[in-house]
Amino acid sequence: MTAAAARAEPEVISPQPGFQTRFLSSGADITIGGGAAGCGKTAAEIIAPIAFVDLPEFRATVFRRNTTSLRAGGGAWDESQKFYPHLGAKPNGSELYWQFPSGARVKMAHLEYDSTVYDYKSAQIPLIIFDELTEFSAFQFWYMASRNRSTCGIKPYILAGTNPDADSWVADVIAWWIDQDEFLPGGEPNPRYGFAIADRAGVLRYFTRVGDELIWGDTPAEVAEHPSVRADVETLMAEAAERGEPTTFERVVDDVVQSLTYIPGKLSENRVLERADPKYRGKLMAMTRVERARLLDGNWKVKATTGDYFKRSEVTMLDFDPPDDEIAAIWRAWDLAATEVSESNKDPDYTAGVKMGRLKNGRYFVSNAIIVRRRSDEVRQLVRRTAENDGHKVKIALFQDPGQAGKDQAQSYIKLLAGFTVSAEPVTGDKETNAEPLSAQWQAGNVYVVSGEWNQLYFALMEGFPSKDVHDDPVDASSRAFKKCVNSRSMFDLY
Ligand SMILES: Nc1ncnc2c1ncn2[C@@H]1O[C@H](COP(=O)(O)OP(=O)(O)OP(=O)(O)O)[C@@H](O)[C@H]1O
Ligand SMILES: [Mg+2]
Repeated sequence: MTAAAARAEPEVISPQPGFQTRFLSSGADITIGGGAAGCGKTAAEIIAPIAFVDLPEFRATVFRRNTTSLRAGGGAWDESQKFYPHLGAKPNGSELYWQFPSGARVKMAHLEYDSTVYDYKSAQIPLIIFDELTEFSAFQFWYMASRNRSTCGIKPYILAGTNPDADSWVADVIAWWIDQDEFLPGGEPNPRYGFAIADRAGVLRYFTRVGDELIWGDTPAEVAEHPSVRADVETLMAEAAERGEPTTFERVVDDVVQSLTYIPGKLSENRVLERADPKYRGKLMAMTRVERARLLDGNWKVKATTGDYFKRSEVTMLDFDPPDDEIAAIWRAWDLAATEVSESNKDPDYTAGVKMGRLKNGRYFVSNAIIVRRRSDEVRQLVRRTAENDGHKVKIALFQDPGQAGKDQAQSYIKLLAGFTVSAEPVTGDKETNAEPLSAQWQAGNVYVVSGEWNQLYFALMEGFPSKDVHDDPVDASSRAFKKCVNSRSMFDLY
């Protein structure tokens, strides 16, 4: 969240009406809440333990997939600074926990790898909290859920905040709460497809896990009707009888069956944020269509499909490059490949070199794209010749492949391009995430494309993204050129 929002001091610490209140009082063993960015998930997760911090034995752990996000602005650690000091809690910044006067502790921890969960093998954590649940693996979640035990007198439970992700395992877990009908009975598209079903928000359902499968029911008894659950319950009853412990079928069912619910939230339910950062909504509006549908509208079904990122119809064509005095930065980014079309490889990757500029008025222009399939020696000549044609004012960005071979190749290109400004950086993140920032500008109509013969192939490949059948090299090169343009202050900066 923004610094302005973070500075907004709460007068009284309490969940806000709406999403946060429902999220914190669902009564389920597992409550998954969220849907929209900024609806107050992280703050609610931090407020949740406050109800129990007078119990000396109480422990809560807030998990985030990695420590960087945990400590980042708007992350759980940052957010806790805003609330816990008012309660007399003392922070331990190196181990990331808060000690409350009673002895209760709230810890923040990462679960970077699947194997990290084994650090919690014998832990007993009555309140387990996941911030950004879709970042975790299903394995991590279910393992930690099995650690959710309590000796301090409160019923153990799990809270998890999340934004929608159609491809995530979380989408399957909460499927019952989400409208799964793509079409209405009349055949027309269902406008509610992917959104939370209003009548089901906060309704508890029951399940148990048998292997990796979740067996659901509207009541614990309904779950227990499933043959493998019934068999498990009977085994547990027989074991209890052997130990001489009196038990009933219902009591054992109660132990093996858990309740789960989903609470959808909207940005408009976070009045604190809307007041502190009225521009936040505008920032979400400025994202790509897909991101907006997920993060602003809370849609769990929307996925990027071919053509969602870079439609030809959304750019303005120019006859010539804008004049130099209107240009703030200009880069050519290369995504290199080294294979010609041949009998054995009919469809190799392209070498793509995209020249893009940022204008002083805040818009961008694609000046030229070279998209070819050549052998490596020819590609080297092409890169050198292009640098000479572009001139020294155009800086050059290269992708550095992982490993020593990648470093060597980058070094050899830097030598080849002696006299030019070259930046060779490794590829990080996935292609779609990397394409987002340029796509948002493209969709907002802020990108010009200069007319040229290269346009046809360039647009065909840009419109074909994302698809496993269409080469994405020009998209990668465009995304990189864009990033470099955004990050360079002026044409005369080094990088
Ligand atoms: N009950 C509250 N009291 C005081 N401040 C609050 C409260 N709820 C939310 N806020 C503030 O609103 C801002 C946004 O809330 P929060 O960070 O919890 O949203 P989020 O849903 O986690 O957002 P994101 O999707 O970006 O992770 C934060 O600065 C937070 O401190
Ligand atoms: Mg958050």
